[in-house]
Amino acid sequence: MTSFLRPGQQSASAFGLAFDVDRDAGGAGAAPVFNKNERLAISEQRRRLPIYAHRTELLYLVEGHATTVVVGETGSGKTTQVPQYLHEAGWTQGGKLVACTQPRRVAAMTVASRVAEEMGCRLGQDVGYSIRFEDVSTPGVTRVRFCTDGVLLREMMDDPLLLKYSCVMVDEAHERSLATDVLLGLLKKIQRRRPDLRVIISSSTIEAEKMARFFDTSNVRRPRAHAEGVQQGAAPSRSPALLSVEGRTHNVQVHYLEAPASDYIQAAVETAVNIHREDLPGDILIFLTGQDECEAAVKLLDEEGRRLQRSRLKLRMQAVALYAGLPAAHQLGVFEPAPRGVRKVVVATNIAETSVTLEGTVYVIDSCFAKQRCYNPLTGLESLLIAPISKASAAQRAGRAGRVRPGHCLRLCTEGDFEQKLPATTVPEMQRSDLSGTVLQLKSLGIDNIMHFEWLAPPPAEASGWLGGWLGGRAGRRGGGVVTMIRALESLHALGALDGDARLARPLGAQMADLPLDPVLARMLLAAGQMGCTAKVLTVVAMLSVQSVWAPGGRRGVDEAKARFAVAEGDLVTYLNVWRGWEESGRSKKWAIENHVMHRSMLRAADIRNQLQAHLRRQGIKQASALEGATSFDHDEELETVRKALAAGMFINAAKLTEELTVKLSDQADTGASVYRLVRSAGGSAAAVKLRIHHSSVLFRCRPQWVCFYAAEQNDSGWYEMRDVLAIESGWLTELAGHVYKMVPLNPQMRR
Ligand code: CDP
Ligand code: MG
Repeated sequence: MTSFLRPGQQSASAFGLAFDVDRDAGGAGAAPVFNKNERLAISEQRRRLPIYAHRTELLYLVEGHATTVVVGETGSGKTTQVPQYLHEAGWTQGGKLVACTQPRRVAAMTVASRVAEEMGCRLGQDVGYSIRFEDVSTPGVTRVRFCTDGVLLREMMDDPLLLKYSCVMVDEAHERSLATDVLLGLLKKIQRRRPDLRVIISSSTIEAEKMARFFDTSNVRRPRAHAEGVQQGAAPSRSPALLSVEGRTHNVQVHYLEAPASDYIQAAVETAVNIHREDLPGDILIFLTGQDECEAAVKLLDEEGRRLQRSRLKLRMQAVALYAGLPAAHQLGVFEPAPRGVRKVVVATNIAETSVTLEGTVYVIDSCFAKQRCYNPLTGLESLLIAPISKASAAQRAGRAGRVRPGHCLRLCTEGDFEQKLPATTVPEMQRSDLSGTVLQLKSLGIDNIMHFEWLAPPPAEASGWLGGWLGGRAGRRGGGVVTMIRALESLHALGALDGDARLARPLGAQMADLPLDPVLARMLLAAGQMGCTAKVLTVVAMLSVQSVWAPGGRRGVDEAKARFAVAEGDLVTYLNVWRGWEESGRSKKWAIENHVMHRSMLRAADIRNQLQAHLRRQGIKQASALEGATSFDHDEELETVRKALAAGMFINAAKLTEELTVKLSDQADTGASVYRLVRSAGGSAAAVKLRIHHSSVLFRCRPQWVCFYAAEQNDSGWYEMRDVLAIESGWLTELAGHVYKMVPLNPQMRR
């Protein structure tokens, strides 16, 4: 039984829910309650937001300052109101646009749709959004545009000074996503050339000073010649203004577990079911770490819901998952209010952590974990790691319960663990990522001296946080940041994107930068163009761009389904078989369910595939010959060509089987897993890395001698587990990447 302590109390109730609940949810509290029945007129809702009192002041500051930093608690109206104020005040006249960037797609979509509603227009007209692979805006009509930070960066490739925009609001800047950090550096550069551009940054209190200092250029001489197309006029002050808005927070009561839970998925489901069984009103939002967990929890909740239907509860429970790999339309569907008589339980990853409002939410159940990117520049491996979130993230998650009414946040850990084990803030993504994609983008924007690029905070001088444990003192004082940058330059050079002088190689590097993909996938596609197998590689790349192809469920069911498609060449070729099956079924949902394939992932992959195809067409890259099928192979040579094209992107992550065995794994009693080692490591840290094939791979029980892998996950014991594995032949490495592998002596553990 999952028991929570009442704040300030020692014991839990028999139901495991010991806190005082407001049975008339949302009824208490002085703040206005907007429920469906007694909805205030939208204009009245807008006037009641705390930021409304600062409207004039904000516009005055923006007028007079190149940069304005807005600080305000969640719910004060920053995201939805500031872009509208700017629009109303005339910043979108003369054909200019106001942009508001979000670190996450789902935030950009839902906020845009809310603002369109507030402005009384259709989404995609005056108000639109733009996310990778999807643009819902109308050129010449759209005035306010919500987009992901990554999309705005991409736009700079065509419009380096962002001349289309009069104002750019960088929202949730304190989240410090990699793209936000790059964007901040570039905006600062643009400001030197465009005094007419206004930058508005919304940030938490802790980071606000840092942001303001970063943008303060009052002591820097401005270049005399301004760029073409830039309006001249009275220059605004180059010292940033700071505006602080008091929040209107509804009270969110936080509860902790009495004793640690051994399985947070189980605990989350149990807690939700307890709330439901108590017949307490209000929707529930659960935070887990990834797609698999979300889908598994939804399945469990559905089962419980069916069981409970016989008891006479007022509400019916309906569980839905929300994660990045879902098609956009599905994500938006999650935000629809629950029908009468239904309690919605949304099971989300951290994509629902900031910016979004799930209106009926009264309870947040927080696992306090997230899948986080982790990069070790010494081994050159980026991996995903399930790690405790920061206290700052936990506060954001709790805030999702207090958006429109008072709520509760139930954290699935003890208060002691929360205080002691969770770091105060999240390490900026830039400091724990492979920077090759970023460096490629900067290079393609003509920023050649990337070592001198102005970052809000430079790549870590020393590895920080939990990454520090990995690196120990090894990165030395010279700095992990330098190592990370050098690593990025090296791998871009290996991929052929940079020439010997670390300049953008033409045309290959420019073409790679132009594709909205990471350099590895971009390289695969371009290699396929040269080798004449674009159609198939497009399919693989699209499938790799969605999180998970297989439906959750008992391992056996999925394994059996996989066996129907699996081939000895590995996961990537297996995906082609899945795609063919799905296509031949007429993209049937029934087919997907029967084959344990996630229909929604397939839809998204199809979407991505179309978009990428359009990109290639625009770039003039040779498309498949009429004879090439999208999946079926006419002869073995064709299969080999496809594998080679894939390997041409992934060769850096090549690994070779060794004779070693790991200790027995608990879940497969009879075998130890085979150990692989990176081929590229000529001694050093990379040589020490031990890898094994992840159990989700179709090659898990095979032991191919040589493999390439697209992604790795690190488990608790520090092991790297390879996902999306392709079996290769050793000769290909020297054939495709002789410049990398010719020179490298075999790592001693590999000699036999
Ligand atoms: O950005 P910030 O957290 O300051 O607030 P916001 O996203 O602009 O939202 C302000 C308020 O608008 C929320 O607290 C909700 O009351 C309301 N809102 C809503 O009801 N539905 C949405 N989709 C978005 C916002
Ligand atoms: Mg916001």
